[in-house]
Amino acid sequence: MTNSKPNSLSSKHLLGIEDTPMADIELILKTARSFKEISSRPVKKVPTLRGKSIINLFFESSTRTRSSFEIAAKRLSADAVNLSVSASSMGKGESLIDTARNLESMNPDIIVIRHSAAGAPRMLVDYCRDCSILNAGDGMHEHPTQALLDAYTILEHKESLSGLKVAIVGDIAHSRVARSNTILLSKAGARVSICGPPTLIPPGFEHIGGQVTYRLEEAIDQADVVMMLRTQLERQSEVFYPSVKEYFDLYGLSERKMKWAKPDTIVMHPGPINRGVEIDPDLADGHNSVILEQVNNGVAVRMAILYLLLGADEETEP
Ligand code: CP
Repeated sequence: MTNSKPNSLSSKHLLGIEDTPMADIELILKTARSFKEISSRPVKKVPTLRGKSIINLFFESSTRTRSSFEIAAKRLSADAVNLSVSASSMGKGESLIDTARNLESMNPDIIVIRHSAAGAPRMLVDYCRDCSILNAGDGMHEHPTQALLDAYTILEHKESLSGLKVAIVGDIAHSRVARSNTILLSKAGARVSICGPPTLIPPGFEHIGGQVTYRLEEAIDQADVVMMLRTQLERQSEVFYPSVKEYFDLYGLSERKMKWAKPDTIVMHPGPINRGVEIDPDLADGHNSVILEQVNNGVAVRMAILYLLLGADEETEP
């Protein structure tokens, strides 16, 4: 599973932040900085990954991640194929493993997978011997590229991740974004405050570096970054709070509550946003918000990851 290419990631796959060393995280962020400028050129394309092919295999809905991977691949001149569950043979009873092995028979260089089952990308590593596997979100487990683009975005506004106070607020229980961010940010030396209703915070977040509080004021007091999470109604089979109004009153972010944070606090959200449920619409569009910057940076960060997994040994600097 290790990668022997020079100036490259230590693994052939990117499955999660938990097993990604800090040196790899720093290399991805540094490489993304050099790729970002390509997207502002009149011709947004370099030949870096010409001849490489990437399959985006998405078993859950996605707007940002899927299009971002496709755009990233195309900006590097790789061929990108998008396959969603409705268009795949899984609807005809084919297993995930058979689907992946059939796709690998066509010699892609990377399979990017999003799946509702935690561990699905890890399982593919055992069955797809030749290509790299890239986790685009697996169940409630990890969403490593989101945490990397979030770290990149924070570093465009703050000098260092180390020493920052970052509040992650909302539906922690169903959030792979919360897990990946908590692991990355605490590895980098940030203080991570985890906040939400007790019914939406699972045990164990302290073990991955989070400090749990059920009080929003305590979480965002003097915070440098406030990361709001979507209430994931599609993952909830029970009701975890009495009403949307009560949820917003206690845990929704508004201008009034932002006074508890620092004046230059940035407001983040991985999207999609439920306006008026977890965040006031004016705040989502306000001057502290970096939500669309996160989406923009996602392309550069994913270009960097594709490049480091595939092209870094071929003297194909952008
Ligand atoms: N942030 C994120 O994963 O968004 P999508 O579900 O639209 O990909």
